[in-house]
Amino acid sequence: MIVAVVNSKGGVGKSTLAGNMVAWLHELGHPVVLADCDSQNSSSEWIAEAAPGVQVVRYETADEVLEGLPPLRQEVEYVVCDGPGSQTETSRALLLWADLAVIPCKASMFEARALAKNTAFVRQAQAIRQGPPQAVAVLSMVGKDFRLTKDMRDAAEALKLPLAATHVTLRQAYADAPGQSTLVWKMGYREKEAAKEIDALFRELLPEAAADGVPGLTRARANRRANTKR
Ligand SMILES: Nc1ncnc2c1ncn2[C@@H]1O[C@H](COP(=O)(O)OP(=O)(O)O)[C@@H](O)[C@H]1O
Ligand SMILES: [Mg+2]
Repeated sequence: MIVAVVNSKGGVGKSTLAGNMVAWLHELGHPVVLADCDSQNSSSEWIAEAAPGVQVVRYETADEVLEGLPPLRQEVEYVVCDGPGSQTETSRALLLWADLAVIPCKASMFEARALAKNTAFVRQAQAIRQGPPQAVAVLSMVGKDFRLTKDMRDAAEALKLPLAATHVTLRQAYADAPGQSTLVWKMGYREKEAAKEIDALFRELLPEAAADGVPGLTRARANRRANTKR
């Protein structure tokens, strides 16, 4: 299965989501590869250190994506692609192979309107391929007192894009994890809410992956117990 985390806007949480997702799948025991398609290489540098068992490839152009993904899919169970911020051709190429497009979006009306452009790419790919990719928007960097307003719900509805029920909250832990070469569920008890939230999100997005693996949260709990003993 190929999962593409895309949004041609930068700074919406693509690399954070893609990195956590590939590491989560790896911890569940699934053979995975992270395809980092952003020339900044932020997710691949982070994951190479935070989850060294994860295979990483880098694609810089649409051609590399179009030619690289099919053989990769034969090798592993999940290919998680971290999309670029502005290279629209590369994003389009990802959507031509992806089974699932995950579109992180900040929770504001401005961002929701900007999302209209992305959904056009998704619709085009779906028309060409007569169905796939399945697409879902994920609200990211959501404030603690955030409520999904009627405006936002209407905007999502107008885009005809399902919105994941689980949101990613704005938390320092997500921003700190890459600098510490780690993942939120390995950051101990203090970050249990982040660990819980990210686990819930990936279970929602990839229910079949969670069904036959060891839950990431169990691992977090075990680490926590080990830490308390020390
Ligand atoms: N849920 C979050 N809470 C706090 N900071 C976040 C969150 N998600 C991402 N960030 C931070 O915001 C910045 C942009 O996120 P990033 O994942 O790099 O976005 P993109 O890949 O879309 O450009 C990074 O510094 C990242 O650490
Ligand atoms: Mg990025």
